[in-house]
Amino acid sequence: MKSKFIVQQRKIIIDTDPGQDDAVAILLALASPEEIEVLGITAVAGNVPLNLTKKNARIVCELAKKTDIKVFAGCDTPMKRPLVTAEHVHGKTGLDGPTLPDPQMPLQKQHAVDFIIETVRNNEAGTITLCPLGPLTNIATAIEKAPDIKEKVQEIVLMGGAYFEVGNITPTAEFNIYVDPEAAEIVFQSNIKITVLPLDVTHKALVTKARNDAFRALNSPVGKAVAEMTDFFERFDKEKYGSDGAPLHDPCVIAYILSPDLFSGRHINVEVETQSELTLGMTVADWWKVSGRPPNAYFIGDLDADGFFSLLTERLTRL
Ligand code: BDR
Ligand code: CA
Repeated sequence: MKSKFIVQQRKIIIDTDPGQDDAVAILLALASPEEIEVLGITAVAGNVPLNLTKKNARIVCELAKKTDIKVFAGCDTPMKRPLVTAEHVHGKTGLDGPTLPDPQMPLQKQHAVDFIIETVRNNEAGTITLCPLGPLTNIATAIEKAPDIKEKVQEIVLMGGAYFEVGNITPTAEFNIYVDPEAAEIVFQSNIKITVLPLDVTHKALVTKARNDAFRALNSPVGKAVAEMTDFFERFDKEKYGSDGAPLHDPCVIAYILSPDLFSGRHINVEVETQSELTLGMTVADWWKVSGRPPNAYFIGDLDADGFFSLLTERLTRL
């Protein structure tokens, strides 16, 4: 069965800190070659340190049997701050849950930031979409090092921030933005077209028991691994928010590329707090348009959760 909302094929770079939900996002992209060409996966420090995220990205490619995907290691610390990690959510490895073998496929020698710059420069303007699923360190470093890429990137579709849901790592900040607020500020001020999948929407993409059973019922190594990852990852949100299951934050980015009609939002101004100790990393999202500041992002607020899960589950059958 094909998705109802097929869009034109897009070339993307996935910038990621796997992370169980990052893993599901990568699987969704790799399961969708008709619509998405994954030019490379760039690892960044975030949920766990870089030495694990660069390994986890390859574990996921091997799970999908896509060993030809190029994986690059990027920045191991935020631009101006020490790294904050989230083992309390994702476990010691970042991919706790299933037992998956160490990767055999090589890590590319080139630095992730240089790969991003080179890829954007070497492709026609307006044809490369960046999909950050972790702290924005690699993306902002690329922008700082090669400001000319700002003109050439088609779009940045990122998971990060919150307005109505406010924060998950602090009372006011979402993890990806909090870890590297200076990087986030560079991205939001870049004038690149930006679409944001904040907690406001990802907290509606919950893996209920029935949805997790559907992953397990795929009866494949991928279905089993996704079910076990979300089993592990759900305890944090269940305990904290009393929610029905794990929120699939990062897969929302790839689902948005595949089926934007599943999502709705507003073109608004988003600024990042980089100074205040109390609200560091807060996305000051002008949802009600009261600031007079010009819109710089399409900020998603809602999704068709059933449509999202049927797209995801159907795509995972392809791996
Ligand atoms: C984001 O932080 C990480 O823990 C997840 O992978 C996701 O990218 C959610 O706040
Ligand atoms: Ca992530």
